[in-house]
Amino acid sequence: MSRLPLPDPAAGATPDRPQHHGHRPLHAAVILGTRPEAVKLAPVLRALEESTDFAPLLVNTGQHREMLDQMLARLQLTPHHDLAVMKDRQQLSDLTGRLVEGIGRVLRAEGPDLVIVQGDTTSTLCGALAAFYERIPVAHVEAGLRSGVLDNPFPEELNRLLVSRLTRWHFAPTERAGARLRSEGVPADNVYVTGNTVIDNLLWVRRRAAGRSAFRTGLRGILVTLHRRENQGDRMRAMAATLLRLARRSDVEILLPVHRSPAVRDVLVTALRDQPNITLTDPLDYFDFTASLAASDLVLTDSGGVQEEAPSLDKPVLVLRTTTERPEVVTAGAARLVGTDPDAIHAAANGLLDDPALYRSMAEAPSPFGDGRAAQRITTRLAEDFAAGPAAGIAVGAAAGDALPARW
Ligand code: UD1
Ligand code: UDP
Repeated sequence: MSRLPLPDPAAGATPDRPQHHGHRPLHAAVILGTRPEAVKLAPVLRALEESTDFAPLLVNTGQHREMLDQMLARLQLTPHHDLAVMKDRQQLSDLTGRLVEGIGRVLRAEGPDLVIVQGDTTSTLCGALAAFYERIPVAHVEAGLRSGVLDNPFPEELNRLLVSRLTRWHFAPTERAGARLRSEGVPADNVYVTGNTVIDNLLWVRRRAAGRSAFRTGLRGILVTLHRRENQGDRMRAMAATLLRLARRSDVEILLPVHRSPAVRDVLVTALRDQPNITLTDPLDYFDFTASLAASDLVLTDSGGVQEEAPSLDKPVLVLRTTTERPEVVTAGAARLVGTDPDAIHAAANGLLDDPALYRSMAEAPSPFGDGRAAQRITTRLAEDFAAGPAAGIAVGAAAGDALPARW
């Protein structure tokens, strides 16, 4: 089996690439395509930009459009490439085909030293797969999350498993995620526990104190987001009915920024528009969303990122899903996995609103997702390993014969 291309520290800069300390900076292609990837890779991009060791290249797959463009603009990120793959009501297999082809083309043209992907979306999987085909080593940010159920969340659990087989640097957000990777046979030397970059970004945004809450009243605020595929259809209709029931309380306002997916919008907007205690909005600008989160009293969500952000702002979370890949937040006491049964959701929300001691215990629970310095740890580790070259195992495929190398 041939070796992966190693960066050659003696090679100097190519004509169009800046020179640094006698070495050329490492070209890191950062691939993202959806809103949460932008949130969680923005701190990594900032750290790469600030480091003299790297020249980052931002590749936007365009899996999302309005929601991602809104986020990129707000976070001051300008892609070098935009594959613009999004189609209305896109099917996973079609999207996957367009992404692998488009990302492969960019990687061949740019020839980066490494590829960085984040999380578990179709863009994440296709970014890692295209890098593997082009024999470029992959760094995976937010590695090692597992629900243990292959089709829940769908298709993200499978995406995570596959990306882990394609990855050289596994940046795990928590000790548990790191241990999970090692238990699956990932070499311990390739797993680094860093914290979650979502906290880096949240602190960055909150330091700027920008953004306005979208709650309209001074009532107790319930912030809701829903979008997961496994919650779409009848389940989402039932959840909408539960929100209507909850909104009958005269002391609450429900704020629901509606995801752009037509499968979500068609159900939620139809069921919940023109209700006195319910505020529906388009997806909020990140600064306004975090200001709304800070102004809320309680969060109901099936989002990954939102359940990570809320505990940092001392907001209790009810997770509207049947499985979780983030049990740390439940164990810490900041969130409860309430499932999707309408009565259970209704009872759990009322319980929190009516029991001040229970509310306090959840609100005061610690956030398990790190200290806001994850991106720095990631870039430092990458720079050190590239400086060490083969000693750090960068030629990961070299010793493993013809099969997919076990060390990968
Ligand atoms: C994707 C990710 C999911 C992540 C979510 C973040 C996959 C398989 N899933 O789910 O893990 O939690 O993003 O929000 O990658 N759409 C628009 N405008 C937009 C964005 C989406 O119209 O700005 C439409 C698309 O055309 C599509 C639908 O929304 O029809 C769903 O988008 P898609 O990227 O397929 O999956 P998400 O449900 O957004
Ligand atoms: N978010 C936002 N505006 C909104 C809703 C969410 O900026 O109206 C942010 C939120 O702060 C979090 C991210 O989007 O950082 C979560 O994205 P999403 O729920 O779409 O995806 P997931 O995290 O579930 O993959």
